[in-house]
Formats: sequence, C-alpha cells, structure tokens
Amino acid sequence: MKYKLFGTHTGLPASELVLGAASLGGRRGYGAVAEDIPKILSAYADACGNFIDVADQYQLGEAEEIVGKFIGQQRGNFIICTKYTRSSEVKPAPANSGNHRKAMRQAVEASLKRLKTDYIDIYMPHYDDGLTPLDEIARGLEDLVKTGKVLYIGLANFPAWKATAIASTIPLAALQIEYNLAQRTADRELISMAKHFGLGTMFYSPLAGGLLTGKYRKGSSGRLTNASPQGYQEDATTKAIIDQLEEIAIEVEATPGQVALAWTLTKDAFPIIGARTLDHIKDSLKALDIHLTTDQITRLDNISAVKMGYPHDLLKTVQTRY
Ligand SMILES: NC(=O)c1ccc[n+]([C@@H]2O[C@H](COP(=O)([O-])OP(=O)(O)OC[C@H]3O[C@@H](n4cnc5c(N)ncnc54)[C@H](OP(=O)(O)O)[C@@H]3O)[C@@H](O)[C@H]2O)c1
Repeated sequence: MKYKLFGTHTGLPASELVLGAASLGGRRGYGAVAEDIPKILSAYADACGNFIDVADQYQLGEAEEIVGKFIGQQRGNFIICTKYTRSSEVKPAPANSGNHRKAMRQAVEASLKRLKTDYIDIYMPHYDDGLTPLDEIARGLEDLVKTGKVLYIGLANFPAWKATAIASTIPLAALQIEYNLAQRTADRELISMAKHFGLGTMFYSPLAGGLLTGKYRKGSSGRLTNASPQGYQEDATTKAIIDQLEEIAIEVEATPGQVALAWTLTKDAFPIIGARTLDHIKDSLKALDIHLTTDQITRLDNISAVKMGYPHDLLKTVQTRY
C-alpha cells in the first residue's frame, strides 16, 4: 500500500486505503462475527494500512473499543479518525448529542477511553446537526487541538457553504463525504471546496454499500437486503454503471467491486473500505494492484457523471477559456 500526504496542509503520511470500522462489532445486530474481527484488522495492517476510520456511534461504542484493543502497543503507528454527534447510545439525551460544546467534550472523553489512547489523530462531527452555530463548532474543535487531545480536525456530512465558513476561520484538515460511482453529487460543490482548502478528503461507501460488487444481481443477500433495505438499489442509472464495471472487470481480470474501488483510487482522496468478513477485506485489498487505463477511467467517469445544474451549467457557457 502506498502512502500519501493527508491534504496539502499536513505532513501526515496516510495509507491510500482507509479501513472503515463501522461493521466491526455486533451491538447493532449486523456486523462482523467476533472471530473475523482481529483477522480483518490484521489483514489490513499486514498490507501496510495505517489509517482507521471509526465513530462513537459505530456498533454503539464497540467499534472504538475493538480498534483501541487492536492498536494497543502500536498506537503510534496508526492514524485514527473518529467522529461525534450521535454519541454511543441508542437514544442519547439532548445534552449528550449534537455538535454543541457539551456533547463534543463528553464525546471526546468517551472516545479516548474506548480507544485507550490520550489523543485522536483526526476528529470531526459526524454530520451537521442543523442547530449548533458554526462558530461554536469551530472554536470547540480548535480548543481540542490546543489541549493536545486532537491533532487534526475535520467535518463529515456538512453542506459545502457551512464547511467553507468553518474552514475560513480555523485550520481544517479533513473532509469525509459519501462518494462512489453511484453517488457523485459531491462533484457539484464539496470536491472543489476540499481542493480549494487543501483538505484530506475521505470517501465513504466506495462500493455503494456493496451494490457495486454486482452481487445483488446474482441473487446474493447482504447489507442492502438484510440491514438497510432503504439503501442503494439497482435502477436504470446504477444498472448502466454495474454493466460497465462488469465489462471492465473482464478486461482487467478482476471483480466489479475491485474495479469500483480502483476507480475511487484514481481520485485525489482516501477511500474508506468497509469489510464485514475476512474475504471482503482480502478482496478489496486486491484493488490496489489494478491499473485502470485512461480509457477505462473515462468510461466510468462518463457513465456515472451527475448533472451539475446551476450555476455550473450557466458558467460553462459564459466563462471565457484561454
Ligand atoms: N461519515 C459517515 O457518515 C459514514 C457513513 C458510512 C460509512 N462511513 C465509513 O466508511 C466505511 C465504509 O462504508 P461502507 O461500509 O458503506 O462501504 P462500502 O464499501 O460501500 O460497503 C461495504 C459493504 O459492502 C459489502 N462488501 C464489501 N466487500 C465485498 C465483497 N468483496 N463482496 C461482497 N460484498 C462486499 C459488505 O456488506 P454486506 O456483506 O453486509 O453486504 C460491506 O460491509 C465505514 O466502515 C465507515 O468507517 C462513514
């Protein structure tokens, strides 16, 4: 696995694939079985992965506990990104959830405990709660850096205009967004904003929850049939994308899922892979060996492109290019 600097404002060498820990644990009733968990983490670390994404909410705190136990004595070798907003409880009290300072402080202390560490590498709200003033979030995160409990700060699931407002007042380092061949609406604002501020950009759900592996059209079951039936589905658009993935998979002698991951690796970002089984992680790591040609990347870019809309469409017609 190669390392890349995390954004243009850090000297942090991060592995090009991040391991997502949302499926590590069973408290949510759907996740990896206990005996597979250390094997999934070891397979990733053995491939030289050094970057793990977790959140207090994942498996109601269990995922952080698992990651904390795994990194143990090697804590200094791993970059840990964790998030707050929802807390680790099923129904958190209002004073213990959201993005306000009180929730932030309680969450960071609880995460440090579960992760068995005295600092978090990258910390971010999990989503915009729609209530907390942006300045309160920015100053709260900045204070966590001053105390040394957090090294870098970021945002997940924020509208671009709010992220811009925060990035204009404090040194923001990271942005976490949903981005894959079936979900590219971040092309409209968020990706350009991240580039403008030199943010380390983390793409979550690179396989669209498993849809892009093509397994559902073969009748397999998985998260999209068992745990999140409201999630990604095959429709006219995603059908064309999966058809293209299957075609390219034959050309490069890989699986459609590996091609989908290899495509995200061609973007200036850090895809977060989600694995529920040891086979998943082994399969996903093979994406690192795939070399997509310019033609193959263009075919995938074109089939998955989203309509940019206003003002982008207008600007294309009126801006002069030299
Ligand atoms: N910030 C946020 O709001 C946010 C949101 C979502 C995720 N994330 C982060 O991103 C990570 C990855 O997200 P994700 O789980 O949605 O990623 P994903 O890559 O889109 O989906 C992963 C799922 O696809 C299926 N899968 C993976 N490899 C497969 C294979 N080789 N064959 C068949 N099925 C396979 C598995 O589900 P099944 O076997 O159950 O079908 C697996 O859990 C999470 O762990 C988390 O760290 C962040």
